[in-house]
Amino acid sequence: MSIIEQTKTHIMPTYVRNEIVIVNGHGATCYDADGKKYIDFGSGIGTTSLGYCNDAWADAVCEQVRKVQHTSNLFYHQPQAQLAEKLCAMTGYSKMFFGNSGAEANECAIKIARKYSFDKYGKGRHNIITLVNSFHGRTITTLSATGQDVFHNYFFPFTEGFKFAKANDIADLHDKIDDTVCGIMIEYVQGEGGVMALNPEFVAEIRKICDEKDILMIADEVQTGIGRTGKLFAGEHYGCKADITTAAKGIGGGLPIGVCLANEKCADVLGAGAHGSTFGGNPVVCAGAVKVLETLEQPGMLDGILAKSQYLREKIAALDEVQEVSGLGMMIGIALKQKKAADVLKECIANGLLVLTAKDRVRLLPPLTISDEELKAGAEILCQVLK
Ligand SMILES: Cc1ncc(COP(=O)(O)O)c(C=O)c1O
Repeated sequence: MSIIEQTKTHIMPTYVRNEIVIVNGHGATCYDADGKKYIDFGSGIGTTSLGYCNDAWADAVCEQVRKVQHTSNLFYHQPQAQLAEKLCAMTGYSKMFFGNSGAEANECAIKIARKYSFDKYGKGRHNIITLVNSFHGRTITTLSATGQDVFHNYFFPFTEGFKFAKANDIADLHDKIDDTVCGIMIEYVQGEGGVMALNPEFVAEIRKICDEKDILMIADEVQTGIGRTGKLFAGEHYGCKADITTAAKGIGGGLPIGVCLANEKCADVLGAGAHGSTFGGNPVVCAGAVKVLETLEQPGMLDGILAKSQYLREKIAALDEVQEVSGLGMMIGIALKQKKAADVLKECIANGLLVLTAKDRVRLLPPLTISDEELKAGAEILCQVLK
């Protein structure tokens, strides 16, 4: 049986997969089972932030695997402590909780917002406002938090306590605020929702409301965070710091990790026994994540990401077929005039370029370390397909 047949026979059909078996890769380039080469502008949906098998990352991971691969959180270990200290130093957050995915990071944020409010104000102040068109994960609670009706089917009953405000609509946001609200959760750029950036005025209003009413502001930076937009966190583009920020995807460099960062106000809300994870903050994953952060810290790295994204954006925007280029930094959405995003994706693959889609847009999340040559080669394929 071929790998594709094996997969189709034995794995639940929850994914619409491209018919490619990826075998190996380096940088932003990978190869399939037939040896065909692809430039990857998708990074495993924004996770292989340093590209395939970055040397420093792979060395750190392999070294840690041979030292101690897992301890559980009943013990201490160096990579987790080092990663946490580094993240606090780089972000200014006070403490964090480690899980294994974006959804788990958001679950933790939701728990913190509700318990912060319960501890201070008692029962009844449990509602969380999220935005229409948002995406926060696939657990029952993060699906409930996701502001898209299409995700609210089949799995009833969903978790109660989420209200959806229209993105960039300050009046609608005010309509949804009352004494039952303990948190407002946003993505600065709605990724799965079509790579749509929020307006600065809307974000500023959320921060203001949260400060005035002691509501916790939660930034879901699972897709936007860790250098993706040319800043460590996208909130920096807005001059905004949420009380809680979640990250996942790119911080692991391709291994599963989720992190929920909390400021001083809510850093100690979850005490012993209030939350946990068997694998969260695993030594191997943390050792790799430290290398991701060390790479982003290198002088000029974040500006380089912005310069590369500028190059790509200008090339794409100049094409007749392109209606709009959206997003921030290396999180790029392309609205098309005539072509369908799914057809563009297929044509790109046929021509040796991996891209993503989000709603009716083509979505690009290239590795942050992509070389100029790979960027140029990938851009040429994309432009050819879109012409
Ligand atoms: C903004 C955002 N939040 C949460 C998630 C869920 O992350 P995970 O699939 O790691 O659970 C995603 C995944 O695409 C996301 O884009």
